[in-house]
Amino acid sequence: MIQRQKGCNDIYGREAKVWKYIDTVIDAMMEKYNYNYIRTPIFEATELFHRGVGETTDIVTKESYDFEDKGGRKITLRPEGTAGVVRCFIENKMFGDPNQPVKVYYNGTMYRYERPQSGRDRELTQFGMEILGSNDPLSDAEIISAAVNIYKMLGLKEIKVNINSLGDTESRDNYRKALVDYFKPHINELCEDCQERLDKNPLRILDCKVDAENEILKKAPKTLDYLNEESRDRFEKVQEYLEIMQIDYTINPNIVRGLDYYNHTVFEIEAKVEGFGSNNVLGGGGRYNGLVNQLDGPETPCVGFASGIGRLVKALELEKVEVPIVDSVDLFLMYVNEDEKKYAAYLTQELRLAGFIVDTEYTGRALKGQFKQADRLNAKFTCVLNSEDLDNNEVKIKNNKTREEEIISLDALIYYLDEKLNSGEDFEEDDCDCEDHECKCGHNHEHCGCGHHHEEEV
Ligand code: HAM
Repeated sequence: MIQRQKGCNDIYGREAKVWKYIDTVIDAMMEKYNYNYIRTPIFEATELFHRGVGETTDIVTKESYDFEDKGGRKITLRPEGTAGVVRCFIENKMFGDPNQPVKVYYNGTMYRYERPQSGRDRELTQFGMEILGSNDPLSDAEIISAAVNIYKMLGLKEIKVNINSLGDTESRDNYRKALVDYFKPHINELCEDCQERLDKNPLRILDCKVDAENEILKKAPKTLDYLNEESRDRFEKVQEYLEIMQIDYTINPNIVRGLDYYNHTVFEIEAKVEGFGSNNVLGGGGRYNGLVNQLDGPETPCVGFASGIGRLVKALELEKVEVPIVDSVDLFLMYVNEDEKKYAAYLTQELRLAGFIVDTEYTGRALKGQFKQADRLNAKFTCVLNSEDLDNNEVKIKNNKTREEEIISLDALIYYLDEKLNSGEDFEEDDCDCEDHECKCGHNHEHCGCGHHHEEEV
């Protein structure tokens, strides 16, 4: 049997409905914030990530899915979304659009050749948002608030926003120097990767997964002590806006982020719920004022954020958030002979186009099995199509909960269903006191009134 690749997931059934629901919440919130949906390719020129995300980052040096295509081009499956969005911004001259800043969001698969473990996949889905063309600290606060509000709208409560600032180039350079001076005498006590990072990008040492618990890392100089006045003022402004927006946050000087392109504000949002394990960062982001220019575009200040949807699903599960997913159909159409089946084909089409969730029989079950299937699908209404009724231009519709049956003219069917389904009657509530659908009422299923169809006729 061929199995799925390591670090990849099959998402199906109820879980797939949760994923779809998350997508709708993201779309709805992004609409409120006036962000436009953007889709960029899943593969890009390898050079984009080397120059964009950074030569010293794990996702480029160790975790990238690189290949040569049939035309000999060096291609990489995107490990994140920001570099592609920036390439698109430059290539399509979006910086020339009078409608600035450009506010976009995306939702798609990314690829990182990581050691698979809980919360760390090789194929992952991220949604992300970017503001290109604003240096206003209000845009940093807006990105953080949009992320927080998406999590809140989904029903998450146990989240923590950690923010930090890396400052501008001058502050970052001063900090970099301080880190090199600090780590040099301890270099042999750090892992091999960190020894390499010392010259290339000492900030990345602070982000090391291997040395995370090492006291030397914990006592390292903090970014905030190296911010120049302008950077400090800017960071204070971001905090002020967050407070006005009533977004709770904690300043955490250990947040440096794994990717090279950041300056000024950086932040991560953690799930604080028990049982999450170590990969509990739901999402992260920050400001990247140099990236557009670095990729041959004009100087453009930017800020953004991305969140892994897999981790989000896990957080919702651990917090036991009730996700409002549709797990019922409005009407299940049943039939016995070929003529009735043809009518079922016609009617499903009509009713679906009228906006109802309608299903029918496709596996040749006898009527008894079709009733069972209607129950499995939590059908609100059922209808056994019968040639005689159809000749009279009518159908018998049964409310599957109350067991009430009504003869409805076919011409009035859409109005009937619309009125019944939108009348506020709660079809979701299950007040059946029978166990496992085994009727104990002493009657056959027609008289039970429990709202379920019962196989056994007692
Ligand atoms: P990142 O921190 O590398 O940032 O990834 C953002 C989120 O993607 C993580 O917090 C996590 O939820 C999810 N994620 C990352 N790697 C994995 C993985 N292997 N398995 C499952 N989930 C994962 C970025 O990607 C930046 N582009 C964010 C950004 C946008 N910065 C500015 N704009």
